[in-house]
Amino acid sequence: MYQSVNINLLNLTLSLSDALDLSHPSLFQRQIRSAFVAWQLGRAASLPPEPLRNLFISALFNDLGALSPDEKVALYRGQAENLDGHCVRGERLLQTVPIFEPCAKIVRCHHKSWRDWDEPIENQLVLQSQILLLADTLERFINRDQYILHQNDQLTSRLASLSDNQIHPYVIDLLKHIGRREDFWLDITSPRLYSILLHGGPCRGIEVGLSELIIISEFVRNLIDFRSKFTVTHSAGVSTAGSMIATLFGLTELESELMKVAGNLHDLGKVAIPNSILEKSGKLTDEEFAVMRQHTYVTHTVLNSIGGIQQIAEWAAFHHERLDGSGYPFHLTAKKLGIGSRIISIADVFTALAEDRPYRKGMNKNDVMPILKDLGNNRLLDIRIIELLDANYEQIHWATSEAQEKAMYTYLQIY
Ligand SMILES: [Fe+2]
Ligand SMILES: [Fe+2]
Ligand SMILES: [Fe+2]
Repeated sequence: MYQSVNINLLNLTLSLSDALDLSHPSLFQRQIRSAFVAWQLGRAASLPPEPLRNLFISALFNDLGALSPDEKVALYRGQAENLDGHCVRGERLLQTVPIFEPCAKIVRCHHKSWRDWDEPIENQLVLQSQILLLADTLERFINRDQYILHQNDQLTSRLASLSDNQIHPYVIDLLKHIGRREDFWLDITSPRLYSILLHGGPCRGIEVGLSELIIISEFVRNLIDFRSKFTVTHSAGVSTAGSMIATLFGLTELESELMKVAGNLHDLGKVAIPNSILEKSGKLTDEEFAVMRQHTYVTHTVLNSIGGIQQIAEWAAFHHERLDGSGYPFHLTAKKLGIGSRIISIADVFTALAEDRPYRKGMNKNDVMPILKDLGNNRLLDIRIIELLDANYEQIHWATSEAQEKAMYTYLQIY
């Protein structure tokens, strides 16, 4: 068990950016590629370390304001009807995390043409957002079916044709300068780009502690849950219920805090589930359920790749496992399911039953508890934790509802 938490910021942001691009196969590594290009251009422009880091993180999350896979794909294909929406939402989402605050304005302005700026390109924000515009556009223009060194000259000319209006000639010159090196182009399309950045990128050596990790987990939770009106407040509820039950069960204060993070991130893998399945109000078909079952697998691989939070990864990812081995996707049994994983499974079912869904009202205690007790008596979920929930139901329900109202308030502020 951890005594304290120190997470590498580079590893954390790379993993989360990579996870967000799982929302559609055509977007694979899209933001990581943009971030690599932005970082290289920023270095060529001699940006100091801190503005360079902020530019890099902005690029890693540049499309975060486009929440649904359809909106992300439309942006990627240049078919979005309105570019402003995702910039404004992206700014508001980044403003919720103090260490990402300097990135908010860059994302806000990343589709602004240089002719629309009153300030010159020497202004740091103008330069950062112009570099991000170029990086994002270059990444979109790459033909993923064609060898990169057969298209790099054509890509540079196509971007240069935007210098009259959209992208400042100085930023185009930076691209021409670094674009002479084949390794620049080969790195962009390398399947190993993630590890190239992990070992050589900016932000190395910067660590975040527990309180920052909790805030970042809330930010990620919002990116996932705000995708659909069915899930807006779900993980906020699981996080609060899970951490309260952990405290009542006698876990340490640190473990209860880690449970908040696990609750916020438990459905992270839903990023890879299409909205048509996520939002279906009726029963899922076998085929749809097979797709749904991958979400906890994705949660596990993404959180494990961050490093240093293996406990959180397990608690979060085992929430659909059942004590008799009938859960998914690992089919773990009681022997392998620790108390934290058992708590979060119950917090998840409790929250799902007690919260309002667009197709039904939230259930009250008289309806929720018999369902949970049945699951406990059939040795699917831990009956001791269910009885603890029963004994403290009003207190847990009140706190969970309050956290969910707060999440709804944030949602309404951003949309
Ligand atoms: Fe964008
Ligand atoms: Fe789930
Ligand atoms: Fe869930």
